[in-house]
Amino acid sequence: MPTDHKTLALTPEHFAYIRRCHSFSDDPILDELAAVTSELGDIGGMQIPPEQGAFFTVLVGALGARHAIEIGTFTGYSSICIARGLAPEGRLICCDISREWTDIARRYWERADVADRIELRLGPALDTLDALPDEPVFDFAFVDADKPAYEAYYEKLLPRMREGGLIAFDNMLQAGRIIHPDTENARILNQLNQKLSRDPRIACTLLPIGDGLTLCRKL
Ligand SMILES: C[S@@+](CC[C@H](N)C(=O)[O-])C[C@H]1O[C@@H](n2cnc3c(N)ncnc32)[C@H](O)[C@@H]1O
Repeated sequence: MPTDHKTLALTPEHFAYIRRCHSFSDDPILDELAAVTSELGDIGGMQIPPEQGAFFTVLVGALGARHAIEIGTFTGYSSICIARGLAPEGRLICCDISREWTDIARRYWERADVADRIELRLGPALDTLDALPDEPVFDFAFVDADKPAYEAYYEKLLPRMREGGLIAFDNMLQAGRIIHPDTENARILNQLNQKLSRDPRIACTLLPIGDGLTLCRKL
């Protein structure tokens, strides 16, 4: 056991324990959405895991976020978790290109009673970002879509964030490939991790949650 780090190598039993230890672990609507999404087949693996969803609800609440944006909504799991953390009157803009997948999200937004907080923008997210007005600025952004565009999303989002606001990037460990990048996505995200860690405009940290979550706080 190395002594220079404390992050535990998690066994399935540890995972099961972690998944029980948050306030949202008995959530029939999220559980049903996860089941419906897994019926889509391998593609269902794009959904964030429950412990990451719980983290978003707590984090967005701690930020007191009123304005949030998500790039990559799929069937809606992460968006429900973000929307539940928003302050009263808070709003989440969801960006995706798939009507089929976001039709499922819409159904579950209704079921989870967050539909009135969410606005869906269908179309390439870079176009959606270009078309947004300058105000209001965002408190929280979650990026979980096409990896080659992550850096472009970052550069378009950063000026739109309030000081102290957070941008979260998913899949930043690429199932472990990030240290010996042997895929295009791993190479691209490794370069982005290097760039973010040296960027004086932000303070960032890479968390070993889900497939790796980089949190960037605008300075
Ligand atoms: C990894 S999934 C998102 C998972 C979602 N955050 C969740 O927890 O369920 C990626 C999503 O990005 C969407 N996407 C891919 N390219 C996109 C683009 N250029 N603009 C907007 N959405 C895009 C896909 O349609 C897909 O639904």
